[in-house]
Amino acid sequence: MTVELVEKVKTLFPTEDEIPQKYRPDIPIRQVEYLINGELRKWDGPMQEVLSPICIKTGSGLEQQVMGTYPLLTEKESIEALDAAKSAFNHGRGLWPTMSVEQRIGHVQKFTSMMKEKRTEIVNLIMWEIAKNLKSAEKEFDRTVRYIEDTIDALKDLDRISSRFHITEGVIGQIRRAPLGVVLCMGPYNYPLNETFTTLIPALIMGNTIILKPPKFGVLLHRPLLEAFRESFPEGVVNTLYGKGKVIISPLLNSGRIDVLAFIGTSKVADILKKQHPKPHRMRCVLGLEAKNPAIVLPDADLDLAVKECALGSLSYNGQRCTALKILYVHRNVIGEFLKRFAGKVNSLKPGMPWESGVKITPLPEPGKTKYLNDLVSDAQEKGAKVVNEGGGTANETFFFPAILYPANSDMRIYREEQFGPVVPVIPFDDIEVPIKYIIDSNYGQQVSIFGNDADVIAKLIDPLVNQVCRVNINSQCQRGPDTFPFTGRKDSAEGTLSVSDALRVFTIRTLVAAKDKDQNKSILREIVQERKSNFLSTDFIL
Ligand code: G3H
Repeated sequence: MTVELVEKVKTLFPTEDEIPQKYRPDIPIRQVEYLINGELRKWDGPMQEVLSPICIKTGSGLEQQVMGTYPLLTEKESIEALDAAKSAFNHGRGLWPTMSVEQRIGHVQKFTSMMKEKRTEIVNLIMWEIAKNLKSAEKEFDRTVRYIEDTIDALKDLDRISSRFHITEGVIGQIRRAPLGVVLCMGPYNYPLNETFTTLIPALIMGNTIILKPPKFGVLLHRPLLEAFRESFPEGVVNTLYGKGKVIISPLLNSGRIDVLAFIGTSKVADILKKQHPKPHRMRCVLGLEAKNPAIVLPDADLDLAVKECALGSLSYNGQRCTALKILYVHRNVIGEFLKRFAGKVNSLKPGMPWESGVKITPLPEPGKTKYLNDLVSDAQEKGAKVVNEGGGTANETFFFPAILYPANSDMRIYREEQFGPVVPVIPFDDIEVPIKYIIDSNYGQQVSIFGNDADVIAKLIDPLVNQVCRVNINSQCQRGPDTFPFTGRKDSAEGTLSVSDALRVFTIRTLVAAKDKDQNKSILREIVQERKSNFLSTDFIL
């Protein structure tokens, strides 16, 4: 088994001829365009080379596939993008923020239909830029389209609810949600399309204007959408920036002119970004950050189910999910059987290239990642853990086969550090206080998974745990979806809540028009409404 696995990992990468025609990228992609103020401008300055995590077997060894280049813009373009977004918002007086909800929905629908035409190209780029397998790359695209469609439906609902007048204590009022201004959207590399759009789309549809900076990996896959952005929205409403954060993002924040920071990444970077704003209280932050979600496997758990969900939870997309299970606590009564079945399950996960059928474990995009993971494993081994799945931790350039570490303990780096990759520490416990203490002491507070069958025991765990994390999963892995459910975290794991409907709220502020219940005022209100003189003060509703 080990020999087979090691051999498979050694011969994992294809020669150029072995890549199926259908999935060969049209490379090199020389992206020179960036979108500012409704213009696709061309860049002739320094460029960033994009390497795929996928290596190609060549006469001189393995080489990471060069995908192309994108612009390394400077502070000048950054401020131009900001000026464009500011002027499109124009202190709330711009065409976009004052447009009717129905018209804004129309623009987003136009964008969505243009986006759908780019599915094949974008899915292929997701595979090549971040090595997500084909099925998951397709899911990421389709989930994003569905998210946009659900957002439109949620906005229609919100608009219907807000289209009525309230009369209280002699005051007539109409309350709606109004946009905040310029939103800087920065998504993560593990969901470069989906998570970027889960902030961009709600912010946009609510009347804000956008500066989009794609994540550090997964930049080129946004290129097919530039034309759709340009054609679907008024000038300056969506602007895109590419380059180094210090060069292009710091000036935006230092200017004090960013109204909302929508960032999905690490708390370390989020703190650096927030501190750069001269008046941090003026900038609303919507942050999705790191986590270290534990699984707790109780002695009466259905082990087949627990093993299946723990494997999915810890190793889908190689463990590169903020919601991944990053540490497993297993009751000592079942630890032997659990480890045997879990190791078998992990070793059945097929390693390979993202387009190969049934492939689950793929190369990793971050430079130096296999060394980092290897260091975590060595550190744990020095402190008493073993790799319990045969061949676990076998690496080849950008590829790392999952390693299960047992028994892990609090002295090890893996106990605290968010591995964001295919290393799974397992800790035995006798007393349920052990995993609970881990959660209490942790810097993170996103989710937990409990595996068990006794309703009394599970109920006793739920009540305190809901005050430590923001989602308690029973007999299933941790996850963000369905996207209509709230997604958030405590401590260093998040700021603000995202879900289809929550996102509409988080990028807006409740604003109202109020008047004393007097004949003169009623007649003014009636005239405005009946003659459709205002987009805000209106009783129209969208069907
Ligand atoms: O990286 C974190 C994602 O929000 C996780 O989403 O649970 O649907 O994979 P997911």
